[in-house]
Amino acid sequence: MAENTLRGRALSATDAGTSPRARRAATVALEHVSKRFGDRADGQLAVDDLDLFVPAGATCVLVGPSGCGKTTTLRMVNRLIEPSGGRILIDGAPIAGRDPTELRRGIGYVIQQVGLFPHQTIAENVEVVPRLLGWPAARRRERVEELLRLVGLDPARHLRRYPAELSGGERQRVGVARALAADPPLLLMDEPFGAVDPIVRARLQEELLRLQRELGKTILFVTHDIDEAIRMGDLVAVMRQGGTLAQFAPPAELLARPASDFVARFVGTDRALKRLTLRRVGELTPASVPLAVAGEPVGAGRARAGSGAPGRLLLVDREGHAVGWLDARGLPDDRPADVAAAQPPTPLLQPETTLRDALSLLLDAAGSPGIVVDGAGRPMGLVTVEAITAALQDVDGDAGPDTRQAPPGGPSDPSARRDAPGAMDGDRGRPAAGTPLPGG
Ligand SMILES: Nc1ncnc2c1ncn2[C@@H]1O[C@H](COP(=O)(O)OP(=O)(O)OP(=O)(O)O)[C@@H](O)[C@H]1O
Ligand SMILES: [Mg+2]
Repeated sequence: MAENTLRGRALSATDAGTSPRARRAATVALEHVSKRFGDRADGQLAVDDLDLFVPAGATCVLVGPSGCGKTTTLRMVNRLIEPSGGRILIDGAPIAGRDPTELRRGIGYVIQQVGLFPHQTIAENVEVVPRLLGWPAARRRERVEELLRLVGLDPARHLRRYPAELSGGERQRVGVARALAADPPLLLMDEPFGAVDPIVRARLQEELLRLQRELGKTILFVTHDIDEAIRMGDLVAVMRQGGTLAQFAPPAELLARPASDFVARFVGTDRALKRLTLRRVGELTPASVPLAVAGEPVGAGRARAGSGAPGRLLLVDREGHAVGWLDARGLPDDRPADVAAAQPPTPLLQPETTLRDALSLLLDAAGSPGIVVDGAGRPMGLVTVEAITAALQDVDGDAGPDTRQAPPGGPSDPSARRDAPGAMDGDRGRPAAGTPLPGG
């Protein structure tokens, strides 16, 4: 299933050609592409017989150790370097016959080390391509301001400054803005976030993902960081020394089925956990929540929860917001559900929480199921450690042994489900019939 899903949006070669958004993105194909630099005495190839196909609108990450040919590969796509063999096609047409300057106008390029012009202002740096394209000044200025806002910079503060006056993270953003200036269908990004600290890098990654959801460009993205590759890529090409392709697959498949020992070592021993970072709580079907409205008789909540008569009820206020867990065992039906007697409604999970974060919250909560809430804090259902473990296993039936280890509290651990409210038993992942949820 994950094989055909690009970051949650299904995208096949056919809809890539027909959806209006994807028309602004290009397909890229490398066929048996090789590069030998003439002056290498050992005759070693920088890139060796590389085959890749990147559908329109997809982000393909090239990852591998230093010197494995990542930059060389990118620079062959915009003809800064000519291949020694094979061919490269954009939207099905070979690029070898095209005028390199005209070709590059349709390709945004973020180079390794950002590469802003130090003696030009930020505005001048960003409008390089629009200037080449002969856009009038007013349109250029409008575009520059729009782009700076898009990458999270305040035009009023940054337009007239020089690169040296910006932080590393701000310079990286300007580099991205410059690459997007002429709205190219293809972006080449060579370690775009390589020069910033991990916290800034995580924020820039998140913003590029958001931007990409909006723009839907085709992106070739180079990194030597496997975590970045897994986070950013719809497809990941793992390269190794000598410019050969070790594996080309969506991140989930790379983690579930590394093609060789080299790839397995490269993705690391914690690949089961890494796979959890690829999935989000919203992809699970939550189990139903036994609800009671605060102030209403406990019996009304019990009746709503149905025959299971769970020990705990989740109290909601009149607006449907989760306000507490009430242990209802032994409470008479006519007793009002009292928030003061309830435990805090934790742990709370959002649909966009990654399964990895959800798992650690659940393990911290000692077996209590997570309450999935919508943006307004209204419960949508419950998620257990067991449901997360099951989700990990249904990605792939024949994963290696380390991906099958259940975390503590998994299916082999009955303590995880003993006290779980909701209808998980024998009915994992499906809401119990007849149990209403607020707002629907
Ligand atoms: N202009 C050149 N002339 C000769 N050899 C080159 C040239 N450019 C790159 N190489 C060699 O080709 C190989 C691949 O280099 P490339 O820059 O593509 O690696 P990379 O994967 O981008 O590495 P890094 O992660 O360090 O940026 C290296 O062995 C490099 O020394
Ligand atoms: Mg490089």
